Amino acid sequence: MSNSLFRKKSITNLLQDAQSGITDDHGVGGLKKVLNVKDLTMMGIAAVIGAGIFSTIGQAAYDGGPGVIFLFLITAVTCGFTALCYAEFASRVPVAGSAYTYSYVTFGEMTAWIIGWALILEYSIGNIVVAISWSSYFNNVLHGVGISLPSWLITDYKTAKATFETAMAAGTDTSLMAWAQAPTIGGLRVIMNIPAFVIVVLVTILAYVGIRESKRSANFMVGLKIVVLLVVVAIGVFYINTDNWTPFLPNQFEGVLKGVSAVFFAYIGFDAISTTAEECANPQRDLPRGMIYSLIICTVIYVIVTLVITGMVHYSEFNHVADPLAYVFEKINMEKIGYVISISAVVAATSVILVFQIGQPRIWMSMSRDGLLPKRFSKVHPKFQTPTFSTILTGVIVGVPALFIDSGIVTDLTSIGTLFAFVLVCGGVLLLPKVEDKATKKFNLPYINGRIIVPVLMIAFCILFKDRIVTDFANLGNEGYEEVLFIIFLVLATAITVLTALKKLSLIPVLGMLCCLYLMIEIPAKSWVVFFGWMAFGLTIYFLYGYKNSRLAKKAVAA
Ligand code: ALA
Repeated sequence: MSNSLFRKKSITNLLQDAQSGITDDHGVGGLKKVLNVKDLTMMGIAAVIGAGIFSTIGQAAYDGGPGVIFLFLITAVTCGFTALCYAEFASRVPVAGSAYTYSYVTFGEMTAWIIGWALILEYSIGNIVVAISWSSYFNNVLHGVGISLPSWLITDYKTAKATFETAMAAGTDTSLMAWAQAPTIGGLRVIMNIPAFVIVVLVTILAYVGIRESKRSANFMVGLKIVVLLVVVAIGVFYINTDNWTPFLPNQFEGVLKGVSAVFFAYIGFDAISTTAEECANPQRDLPRGMIYSLIICTVIYVIVTLVITGMVHYSEFNHVADPLAYVFEKINMEKIGYVISISAVVAATSVILVFQIGQPRIWMSMSRDGLLPKRFSKVHPKFQTPTFSTILTGVIVGVPALFIDSGIVTDLTSIGTLFAFVLVCGGVLLLPKVEDKATKKFNLPYINGRIIVPVLMIAFCILFKDRIVTDFANLGNEGYEEVLFIIFLVLATAITVLTALKKLSLIPVLGMLCCLYLMIEIPAKSWVVFFGWMAFGLTIYFLYGYKNSRLAKKAVAA
């Protein structure tokens, strides 16, 4: 059994399958090849710039001060390492499926399933967060034109209850609050987030109708949000008071690190374009470029925007500010600009939802083609040429929870799931067979020997975190879960460092793995418990269905 859990696809077979239209074996048609490097870059930006920069940057700036730009840079570098690894994979395995397909080639079937299951966290669960953020900005926009939806139709149960209790404790008026106004059925308050649900339904329809239409909408939305962010910078720059940048790191690096989950969330999405490999005109050349270009553009925008807003308003004013970009303009009495920013936040979040709603069904399609999910998951619409069942199912999985749940833990869960996938993509690159003829390959991950650099960096890390390490080991057995995670990281990192030194492993994927692992352990332990629960559920499904129905398993039996 252990062998069959690690059965692998060969790159050659995968490419042959893709070229010979293996999809026809399953009675479904191929996908349209319409995307070029510009479209891919646009799709990358469409997926990346969204709820993160428009909302989470506020709290991260409060915790870390203007120095949170360091976290943006660290995260960008981490994502950059991963993007290069994605690019290496994408140039070797240009078929749809993202990290899922890549790990099928390198780690084998069970790990591929685990990754596919973790990617549901990134795309679908992540989209719930974005839809909820969309809803709050959309309500700002409605207020601007004098429309107010009933408060119990624009929030979730838990948030409504918490806000009500806080207001009660503070003695403020609660009569207009969702908790006070909600109708009750059978003693239970009816509270739901209708705009979040509606946007998911609309975007799902768009994703269903076709990749070309989706591409056009993504290009339009990306253009608009970049223009708006540039306007924010161009105007904001005149209102910067450099005194606000002192102190630059008010809570030292510890404060900056509090923003890990939020800042990482702002970067999630650049990898989503690898799921459209089969719809690219020239995937080997264009996918790597699209990913890296979009990452660079987003990083520049994030750093500049962060510097501008923390220069305009003192960092200490960003506590619990959910719409920081609009907020800074309201502070300088430019409400109209703030309003335009709210509109653009709505557009930005819409494009993120669109790209993720396109990405998720394509991963399921690949899993279904491999026999790990039922065939209907890979069924393509005869006219629209998009995966039908998978697209609709994605809509249901994102839309229904968006009606009822709050976004707190889902943000953490999305970040853990995505980082986990990134670790395996970076690790997978190290396991890829060597390419004999590099000249025919359109993208080559530069090989830098990590033998010296990685141990040196590891020693530097230990010196930097000396106090934490000493305390943790002194209290071994008594520390909280967060510190247990830190010790696990140290053990893993040491093992990876030793392996790198012994086997002269390639620097970029090794650093990618280490950085992603580190960011993972900075996410609160309570979210890890849910993550493990999710994974256990996924493995149960694999053993009940995928293990027996896998195409590789059937091939092996036939052979
Ligand atoms: N990076 C995406 C966003 O910030 C998920 O909305």
